Amino acid sequence: MEPAPRVVGPAALAVEEAVVETSLRPRHLDEYVGQEQVKRNLGTLLEAARRRGEAADHVLLYGPPGLGKTTLANIVARELGVNIHTTSGPAIERAGDLAAILTNLEERDVLFIDEIHRLNRAVEEILYPAMEDFVIDVMIGRGPSARSLRLSLKPFTVVGATTRAGRVGGPLRDRFGAIYRLEYYDAADLAAIVRRSAAILGVQIEDDAVEVLARRGRGTPRIVNRLLRRVRDHVEVRGEDRISARSAEAAMREMEIDEEGLDSTDRRLLLAIVQKFASGPVGGAALAAVIGEEVETVEDVYEPYLLQLGFLDRTPQGRVATERAREHLRGLGFEVPQPRRSDRADMGLWDGLTSEGGRQDGEP
Ligand SMILES: Nc1ncnc2c1ncn2[C@@H]1O[C@H](COP(=O)(O)OP(=O)(O)O)[C@@H](O)[C@H]1O
Ligand SMILES: [Mg+2]
Repeated sequence: MEPAPRVVGPAALAVEEAVVETSLRPRHLDEYVGQEQVKRNLGTLLEAARRRGEAADHVLLYGPPGLGKTTLANIVARELGVNIHTTSGPAIERAGDLAAILTNLEERDVLFIDEIHRLNRAVEEILYPAMEDFVIDVMIGRGPSARSLRLSLKPFTVVGATTRAGRVGGPLRDRFGAIYRLEYYDAADLAAIVRRSAAILGVQIEDDAVEVLARRGRGTPRIVNRLLRRVRDHVEVRGEDRISARSAEAAMREMEIDEEGLDSTDRRLLLAIVQKFASGPVGGAALAAVIGEEVETVEDVYEPYLLQLGFLDRTPQGRVATERAREHLRGLGFEVPQPRRSDRADMGLWDGLTSEGGRQDGEP
């Protein structure tokens, strides 16, 4: 059986969501909420390219899913007044596929490569000279009569996006003139996004209801927009004409999303660390097994926000649930055993680790 789609998961869900997302997507840099530093730097880069009438520098965007990488890539093309060609690392299987894409680009066009860390080696090799000198080398023929032919390309701009900057190899990373890291959005930015989206969707929402959603939006525009749509369904079904804080909270309760925006899977993950592993440290594989997910999913989807919230620490020995996490779980009525870490530290087994059970932040 397919698992139910996760309301607070950062990945885009279905075709239907993709359609709504497109309608909610800011089209220009000045509509793009937050990420002020990225906007400033990118704005300068684009303006300079426009003035010179040249292709803009290649741009690499990285950050957790749902923070606005695809949106920014589209904004880049729009601000430059050029076309965008969208593809992704896994979609380009052979060098020839990339060569075909590259030779079809018009002058100054944007080539958006999503999940660029998943390009395979042979394809990456074609991309290097293409990005650096706007040329590609193609092999003609086979065997002893094979020869390499150099084709020149029209100048273009690669916008790469990745959730894992560490997986983009040095040689590829070096070919980007600008690398921008997107951060989780604060509550004020999320509130601005909720208001903007509500206006586009034509739904009335009260100020304190905006706060309810912003607080639970996990710092992620995609998620806060999704929460807004679910709450809209909730009030429409009840024949209410606007979203109040009360109806927003009721909808959140129905979806089992707590005040920090955690859903039942997040809580299961935290509870496992706290109850089964005495707050850790626990390895990623063990954790993944407990909640029945891939290690990569745990690392990309569940952990980043728990780390951001300060509920989880990563240590060389594994993941550790913090006192903040225990407090949150206690507040929800869960049984929270003593963390093992402090016990052991008391026994002197954990050199260099803090001896306080109540540590909240920082590295050991
Ligand atoms: N800065 C922003 N301001 C307003 N809405 C945003 C912003 N960033 C993202 N969004 C919204 O969030 C949704 C997901 O963004 P997207 O660019 O697809 O994220 P990513 O590619 O990083 O996963 C978009 O549909 C867009 O409506
Ligand atoms: Mg995207």
